[in-house]
Amino acid sequence: MDAIWQKIENYREDALAIRREIHRHPELSMEEFHTTALVKETLAKYGIGLADVELPTGAAAILEGAAPGKTILLRADMDALPMEEKSGLPFASENPGACHSCGHDIHTTALLLAARILSEMREQLHGRIIFLFQPAEEKLGGSQTVIDSGLFKKYQPEIAVGLHCWPDLPGGTVGVRKGPFMASSDSVKITVRGRGGHGAHPHKSIDPITAAAYILTELQTIISRSVAPLDSAVLTMGKFTAGTAANVIPDEVVMEGTVRTVTHETRALMEEKIRTVAEHGALALGASCEVEYKKGVPAVVCDYGVTEQLERAAAAELGADKVLTLETPSMGSEDFARYLELVPGAMFRIGTSNENPATRLPLHNSGIVFDEEAIFAGAATFVRFAAEYLK
Ligand code: NI
Repeated sequence: MDAIWQKIENYREDALAIRREIHRHPELSMEEFHTTALVKETLAKYGIGLADVELPTGAAAILEGAAPGKTILLRADMDALPMEEKSGLPFASENPGACHSCGHDIHTTALLLAARILSEMREQLHGRIIFLFQPAEEKLGGSQTVIDSGLFKKYQPEIAVGLHCWPDLPGGTVGVRKGPFMASSDSVKITVRGRGGHGAHPHKSIDPITAAAYILTELQTIISRSVAPLDSAVLTMGKFTAGTAANVIPDEVVMEGTVRTVTHETRALMEEKIRTVAEHGALALGASCEVEYKKGVPAVVCDYGVTEQLERAAAAELGADKVLTLETPSMGSEDFARYLELVPGAMFRIGTSNENPATRLPLHNSGIVFDEEAIFAGAATFVRFAAEYLK
């Protein structure tokens, strides 16, 4: 057993107690007051000081190594989801309407454990580590709050690394993927304007419903004809609002949808093509069209070099057989992507399933149970990675 894993074994019970305490008291996005207090109190106990930034909830801590060097940022998120927990666990949520069904309690605990161990390895570290306990990931806004606090400007990390639970992988394993990791999430609203009139006299009107219907189907040709077959993109128009009566041609139609891509190039392509198809499609039928494209979070695209270093770190601590390659990106989104607009970096998955069928439920399911080995696999990977990077 190497020195890092020995420390993990020593602190196992403490970490489990912290995780169960956070799990028992889940808090929604930007309301992580109890969790923030617990994190700050725990960091103080480990002798790790806070960064000089103001965050409404969440915390950032700074560990200075014995010698100067690079700065890296390790991130965990800490918020829960607005739902009731039905796991039946003895430490299930005691906060009505809040549940840690995305495993952010595991992430927070893994980073606290990593911080504890790294603080004891200070003498070996050349550089600085920022431990970021980010609020409000579930609303995809917390990372912007952190950026707005000036943390990146002030401490200038060279890279950022984050982790997330993954029930598709067994507890105690780590999953990595170079390149596309999670999807961007943008929204689009298309207003097609015609000229209303009597349903019996369409030639005296410009029918926006017919135009919008054409546009709606033509938009899917962007996926089938413009996006490369081995690339991925999703365009779903989930809302289509038109008309008030069967014999009335309305003045306008509004469609609203979501756009997901896994590369920055395809994201730009989608916006451009949606505008072209909608505007020209409307024009062809005498209507006009307004496209409002709202950028949400970008895709998480993992840096090759950082991912390779994570892979090596995880293999060194857990064994090469415990490090798995994720074959496909997830079409879910992560606001960690905003950090990767500022600095290179990567995310990795920590497996959370075991023989208990409840551990194989999907994330955000009210009954999901997480294999707690994920805490130790995550912490060990963080620690080994940071120690090697700042050698
Ligand atoms: Ni999550």
